[in-house]
Amino acid sequence: MSPDEIGAAFPEGLATPLMSDRHIVVTGATGGLGEAVVATLAKAGARVAALDADDRVLRTRREGADAYVVDVTDRDALLAVRDAVEAVWEAPADGLVNFAGVFRSGASAALPSAEWERHLNVNLTGTFNACAVFGERMVAAGSGSIVNVGSILGVRGKSRHAAYAASKHGVHGVTRALADEWGPAGVRVNAIAPGRIETTMTVDAFADAAGMQAYLGRVPLRRVGSPTDVIGPVLFLLSSLSAYVTGHAIMVDGGLTSTA
Ligand SMILES: NC(=O)c1ccc[n+]([C@@H]2O[C@H](COP(=O)([O-])OP(=O)(O)OC[C@H]3O[C@@H](n4cnc5c(N)ncnc54)[C@H](O)[C@@H]3O)[C@@H](O)[C@H]2O)c1
Repeated sequence: MSPDEIGAAFPEGLATPLMSDRHIVVTGATGGLGEAVVATLAKAGARVAALDADDRVLRTRREGADAYVVDVTDRDALLAVRDAVEAVWEAPADGLVNFAGVFRSGASAALPSAEWERHLNVNLTGTFNACAVFGERMVAAGSGSIVNVGSILGVRGKSRHAAYAASKHGVHGVTRALADEWGPAGVRVNAIAPGRIETTMTVDAFADAAGMQAYLGRVPLRRVGSPTDVIGPVLFLLSSLSAYVTGHAIMVDGGLTSTA
């Protein structure tokens, strides 16, 4: 399904009252999950700023969604984007979804230092940077909701995934720490923790037929996720439906991490 088809498929009667008039920043907006969420939010009437390091993000511009090329590891560049976004909206962001991320697996002893650093820089520091830059305005305004994107590997370990798991454990830690720090100011900070979802990030995993069979055998719902499966939890955490939920991670994993 294309991002537009996904956006059209999400129950509009549900999303529109929750998201119209919201001002939401989405990082990693060119990716499989980010693009689906941007399309849904824009269709529901939110003003969306779609951010990605890949300039293909500029092609995702649509009614209600502006696009900005920015590397989330560069805090100064994010501050400049914040200025630009606020100038267009004439309002600060009241929502942030941090999808920007990288993934590579491989034998840990042979993992190049640069790959270790890239995972921590993009997945962890990048997420923190966006929280700091856009969260600062939410704290000043006295309200806002941030959704970070962790992973099942943010709560579990897995062979050959040390860098990714370390970065995603960090994302869950940052989420809890900021929830505590900014809760008194009315800003909620939560995470989603997806299992295996079909996007460009997981092409290799999906190409491994035997590995997929083994994985599916461990997932109670006996299927992998699609980008559509991520939309509901993200919208819930962004919206007032989750007004008393903060510091929490929703596992979007077909039940995988609930099993022994
Ligand atoms: N797909 C899955 O199975 C899965 C599972 C668990 C968690 N996640 C997480 O969900 C998020 C989105 O994943 P996806 O499947 O859409 O992946 P994807 O590879 O399709 O998208 C990731 C996006 O992040 C962008 N990005 C990378 N580095 C960046 C940087 N420095 N600055 C700004 N943007 C940058 C990429 O250009 C890309 O558009 C990631 O954080 C990923 O770790 C995905």
